[in-house]
Amino acid sequence: MKTLKPHSFYIETFGCQMNEQDSLRTAVHLSQAGYREISSAREADILIINTCSIRRKAEEKVYSLLGRYRTLKRKNPNLIIAVGGCVAQQEGGALLDRMPHVDFVFGPHHVYEIDHLISRFVVLKERFAVTAQAGDSTEDLECPGIPDQSGLKAYMTIMEGCNNFCSFCIVPYLRGRERSRSSHALCEEAHALIKKGVKEITLLGQNVNAYRNPDNKDFGFADLLKDLCKISGLQRLRFTTSHPKNLSTDLIDCFGELKPLCEHIHLPLQSGSDKILSAMNRKYTVAQYLEKITALRRRSPEISITSDMIVGFPGESTDDFLETMEIIKQVEFDNLFSFKFSARAGTKAANLEDTVSEEEKKDRLQALQTLQKRITLGKNKQLKGRRVQVLVEGKNRDDSQWTGRTRSNRIVNFTGFKGSPGQLIDVYIQKGCYNSLVGISEQKE
Ligand code: SAH
Ligand code: SF4
Ligand code: F3S
Repeated sequence: MKTLKPHSFYIETFGCQMNEQDSLRTAVHLSQAGYREISSAREADILIINTCSIRRKAEEKVYSLLGRYRTLKRKNPNLIIAVGGCVAQQEGGALLDRMPHVDFVFGPHHVYEIDHLISRFVVLKERFAVTAQAGDSTEDLECPGIPDQSGLKAYMTIMEGCNNFCSFCIVPYLRGRERSRSSHALCEEAHALIKKGVKEITLLGQNVNAYRNPDNKDFGFADLLKDLCKISGLQRLRFTTSHPKNLSTDLIDCFGELKPLCEHIHLPLQSGSDKILSAMNRKYTVAQYLEKITALRRRSPEISITSDMIVGFPGESTDDFLETMEIIKQVEFDNLFSFKFSARAGTKAANLEDTVSEEEKKDRLQALQTLQKRITLGKNKQLKGRRVQVLVEGKNRDDSQWTGRTRSNRIVNFTGFKGSPGQLIDVYIQKGCYNSLVGISEQKE
């Protein structure tokens, strides 16, 4: 028999890895409070939507899902619908007005108290929005280490917020100013994760390399990497996302020097035109970016470099766009995430005249993605005949092959392996495709 007290919950997550990590934290808090996570929205007593507002499309997805959830609420009036994440932070009470079937709204700084928020709604039966930001404290970010589903990998949020105010970006308005967790707490969390069997940790932050230990302001991101790499049992360490202006020599020197640190960096460039970079308030020039790439490759010749690019920023001429294409050819990124500029209310760029038509943005994006596809495929094909280290994650869907990732974060599907997930093995690459590599295990019987 169904009791009135809600007990099962379902979380739908949009957006970046920080949001995914917030959803995991939400699930841990609720499980500790006695709720049960289920994998079907239709059967849940509580639906939580963790939202993203980075581009208009991301926001639209949230509203379309909420539209579908209206039917579920009609069928079950006791269903609780809560909206968290960046749209929640942005809209606050306005979201309650727009969506009468939403029961409460909570910003990203309120994840730690989700069980109290549910109790508040159950007891008072009044709709509410909580969006106050956390200030300097990082208490809300503290949590027990949470491995992913495979139990082999985990994210650790080391800092949150952003002080950069790139003119196109809504994040600083929604996630607040930069605040970092203490290195002591982070090392303890990493220890606990490794004890649970985690082999690979990814450090997260909107501007991860701006990390500053609150207990010692001279202790920066490179120092944190060095301390984490001393923990025995940590096989792989990654981080995302870095801002080029905070990529210090100290940090570049960590590559090749710290064994667990994987040879991969995601370093968003955004545009290949200095004029546009300046209008974006990115605080570096193309030449300065290229110098950093050269230094990274000098230090770690095989380092995989991925990036983000925006096309159609206000004022982007055909020549500016062609400069972006040139840089892509010159750098040969291992992969790129590319987006059409999307004006976000409240940002500086939203006040600029959107000079590039939707049609033109579409064409530029397509040209850029076609170019990058060729480069990515070419780079993957070059790996044919090489031996790469793979962290075995499990079998693929039809059980016919094993799957795992290289240190450069490429997916490898392979056969000939008789061990178990969690092992680090050498795989001989037979073929490079666009999204993955195909190989055979060189494991000795
Ligand atoms: N903190 C990270 C990225 C945050 S958002 C960084 O500084 O790099 C991820 C990517 O979304 C950005 O790198 C940018 O390429 C893209 N993006 C952000 N705002 C956008 C907007 N208004 N329109 C289009 N793309 C945007
Ligand atoms: Fe947004 Fe720029 Fe901050 Fe990245 S660095 S989160 S793009 S403001
Ligand atoms: Fe989206 Fe917020 Fe992340 S806007 S990209 S969920 S920080």
